[in-house]
Amino acid sequence: MQIAVASDHAGFTLKQALADHLRDLGHVVTDLGTDGEEPVDYPDFGAAVGRAVTAGPADLGVCVCGTGIGISIAANKIPGVRAAVVHDVSSAHLARAHNDANVACFGARLTGGTTALDALDTFLATSFEAGRHLRRIAKIDRLEEDE
Ligand code: RB5
Repeated sequence: MQIAVASDHAGFTLKQALADHLRDLGHVVTDLGTDGEEPVDYPDFGAAVGRAVTAGPADLGVCVCGTGIGISIAANKIPGVRAAVVHDVSSAHLARAHNDANVACFGARLTGGTTALDALDTFLATSFEAGRHLRRIAKIDRLEEDE
């Protein structure tokens, strides 16, 4: 799978660990930054991952900031992105199974490294359940068209 990753300075260390893990699993990782712990602005990086997912080449995205919140809000501004803050295996599973999330966002200041890696594995291994959830995802798509 092709996976775009990015973080701000607060998420840099965890982003590196998640990217290394993805490469170890054989995925093709596009690292869109940031490249160190100098302060940067998370909207730039959330948007970059969102664009890589919706316009290509990425199948899925991974974002990290201090909480996962700011970078998820930014990623979700890109039409077609369904970014979810993922705290653990359960939230990762439900974000894919019910919400068909295409970007997983982590909070490096809130979620430990091992938990984040396990959650990422679950995010990648879980399929969208479709069924009743399809109607709800379609309504989200229409919100983007109508607002
Ligand atoms: C950066 O200090 C912090 O605000 C950012 O990483 C993130 O937590 C925002 O949601």
